[in-house]
Amino acid sequence: MKNNVKNQQRVFLDPAALSVAAADRFVQLARQAVAAHGRFSVALAGGSTPQKMYRLLAQSPRQEQIDWPNVHIFWGDERFVAPNDPDSLWRMARETFLDEVPLPAANIHPMATVGLTPAAAAAQYAGTLARFFAPGPIRFDLILLGLGNDGHTASIFPGQTAVITSPEPVAPVTDAPKPPPIRLTLTFGVINQAANVIFLVTGEEKAAAVAQVLSGERDLSQWPAQGVQLENGRLLWLLDQAAAWHVA
Ligand code: 6PG
Repeated sequence: MKNNVKNQQRVFLDPAALSVAAADRFVQLARQAVAAHGRFSVALAGGSTPQKMYRLLAQSPRQEQIDWPNVHIFWGDERFVAPNDPDSLWRMARETFLDEVPLPAANIHPMATVGLTPAAAAAQYAGTLARFFAPGPIRFDLILLGLGNDGHTASIFPGQTAVITSPEPVAPVTDAPKPPPIRLTLTFGVINQAANVIFLVTGEEKAAAVAQVLSGERDLSQWPAQGVQLENGRLLWLLDQAAAWHVA
């Protein structure tokens, strides 16, 4: 029995209000994690939705409220492109907040995308995670996720059974329907061990997927985001009104 009592949904007027709440929650979780165990590990989401939140983290007053030297940044997924490619999620994070905050370079843990195969890059990132969290299991303080209107999350896409059921912590992805087709992604094995997962979802075009994932019949192959079921953590859905209007 999964810990569904800890699943929560909050609905905001618009993406701006949602972004403020997400940034505030980031600050709060960072403080709690640093107080509890000396550091805060977070895996970032890609897409356009979290960008407002990321910018808020780099601005006053939140920038000063975060103990950046004890924050460790990872990625929930990455597009298999060079770090300076406009599609790079590492680049997006650099441009929205990483370049503006006093974060030691050693605390940034991007997925490698150059000079190795996607399979080798996935294995390498699995090693990075294992070493960072050793001697414990891979348990992020926070994983941020987005939702595609086809039901994907991170880079776990519909119909991609090998990725959906992967026993590895990180999987290579080929033929993703959302470009670019080659990607790397954390798998459910890691996502579901997190202490906190927050979905950030806005816009009417996501409403049907939100309803399916939250209350539709379970079909992981068609709606991979249904696979997010935390073993012992808090799952929080931050939705704007447009994305939430189908939710019962
Ligand atoms: C990416 C993400 C992907 C994203 C969703 C939502 O490819 O950028 O990994 O999972 O979070 O597709 O994207 P939007 O926020 O742009 O709708």
